[in-house]
Amino acid sequence: MREFYRLNHTFQTYEFGQAKRKEYLGLNRMTMGVWEAAEYLNQLIDDSDPDTDMTQLQHLLQTAEHLRRDGQPRWMVLTGFVHDLGKILCLWGEPQWAVVGDTFPTGCAYSPKIVFPKFFEANPDSKDPRYNTPNGVYEPGCGLDKVSLSWGHDEYIYHVCRDYLPEEGLAMLRYHSFYPWHRESEYSHLLNDKDQALLPWVNRFNPYDLYTKSHSKPDEVALRPYYEDLIREFFPDKIRW
Ligand SMILES: [Fe+2]
Ligand SMILES: [Fe+2]
Repeated sequence: MREFYRLNHTFQTYEFGQAKRKEYLGLNRMTMGVWEAAEYLNQLIDDSDPDTDMTQLQHLLQTAEHLRRDGQPRWMVLTGFVHDLGKILCLWGEPQWAVVGDTFPTGCAYSPKIVFPKFFEANPDSKDPRYNTPNGVYEPGCGLDKVSLSWGHDEYIYHVCRDYLPEEGLAMLRYHSFYPWHRESEYSHLLNDKDQALLPWVNRFNPYDLYTKSHSKPDEVALRPYYEDLIREFFPDKIRW
């Protein structure tokens, strides 16, 4: 785990994130349906999750099923089902440190409340005067939309789902690993009113991602028709990845 964060904090620079956005956000790699993407992802073993023997598909179904049991809106159940599909980046050769783990703004000073802050000393941005001030490349109050978070599965799945899910669900996708914001309340100087309005929704989602990891395994075969239906309600048959 320490090794993971050492690599993550050392290599997640502002320019790295810009390059990955260029590489992936044209969504020109594959065309596939949402259930199909979940099955495709299921080949992956996530080393950042050593506490669980759950497959990727089981984790998605568990998160979604827990949301469903609690009577959360249908779009939110679906958000739970898709929230980690961005981890397919690993299947395309991206190292784990560029896919999973807590996310944080790049292009401005790294908060000392990010997990293992010491590892940022090896990141060249922490010595670059363009990027190492509180605001860095951003205007105060510019809003998170304009802030380049460290690259990973969250930002990627947000862009994949952008045309299909409500704004609150998209915020859950995009910020679910942004612990320095939703748990530590850091980076308030970059937020705008829209972010403040979306934060309660991000917080409403997060317990479902964590809490579900210890529960019994969902039945993929029995649940599939329900999720195929739910997917059809919001997504076309195939979407771009
Ligand atoms: Fe995630
Ligand atoms: Fe997750």
